[in-house]
Amino acid sequence: MTDKVPVDLSGPAQTMLTTLYCKALDADWRQPILGDEFAKEAVARIDYDWAELKVADRWTPLVTVRTAQFDIWTSQFLAAHRRATVIHLGCGLDSRVFRLDPGPSVEWYDVDYPAVIALRQKVFPTRPHYRLVAAAATDPSWLEQIPTARPVLLLAEGISMYLTESDGIALLQRVVDRFGSGELQIDFYNWLAIRSQKTHRLQRQSGSTLHWAVNSPADIAEKLSGVQLITAVTFFDATTFGRASGVFRLARRLVRAVPPLRRTFQYHRYAFGSPVN
Ligand SMILES: C[S@@+](CC[C@H](N)C(=O)[O-])C[C@H]1O[C@@H](n2cnc3c(N)ncnc32)[C@H](O)[C@@H]1O
Repeated sequence: MTDKVPVDLSGPAQTMLTTLYCKALDADWRQPILGDEFAKEAVARIDYDWAELKVADRWTPLVTVRTAQFDIWTSQFLAAHRRATVIHLGCGLDSRVFRLDPGPSVEWYDVDYPAVIALRQKVFPTRPHYRLVAAAATDPSWLEQIPTARPVLLLAEGISMYLTESDGIALLQRVVDRFGSGELQIDFYNWLAIRSQKTHRLQRQSGSTLHWAVNSPADIAEKLSGVQLITAVTFFDATTFGRASGVFRLARRLVRAVPPLRRTFQYHRYAFGSPVN
């Protein structure tokens, strides 16, 4: 008899078990990249054969470097907008709201499929100014429950590639059109990552399919109206990449000579609307 939380997920929803586990492994490093103790606690609470994921410790920076970068960008947004709304789309079991611990002037929404949100409810505590939204990201109706009075950050980490381009653009356009001002912070895979998806263990294990390839901010600018690029950076060129070592440093030297490889994983940040505070 165990009081651990059982888990039964498949497809894109299952992929967040791997990202969670990477963060938990990283937390045990002598010099962690992310240092997410909440991820460690969540892994301990869930009844799952984590070894089945076959995640090697040395590859966890593939996840933790990205998460650390979005933590920095989110903190920058919240420093610039004391009163704000954060929509954390495709949150999975990421504990960003606990890691960053925003004050009472920030309303935070974690959004994911109903099965993921149900699991979240069992694994993490509630907190003031924090709500869970159980919905498919592509369903237009969930946005209606989010008030529009404050600047909004739409933070979408590790989800764009599971959407089709038309669904993804329509979703981003709904956010830009609904809120007076804010930011989009989102990561993308380029054509090479999408085309080589059968070689990624994460995709094979979960049985999910990747769709949306974005090669540069120009791909977004030509389809999404009302946004201005703040910055775009590749996985290899992001500030947080400096926290990875060994094979990652070597890989960076190699991919610098091959632009499509260098741009495999990208983080984009856009502003929209007129600044309020
Ligand atoms: C790779 S995981 C990333 C989770 C988390 N952002 C992280 O970095 O640990 C992808 C997440 O996106 C969610 N997701 C994918 N497609 C979605 C959709 N159409 N609607 C809602 N959530 C979706 C999955 O359920 C999963 O939690």
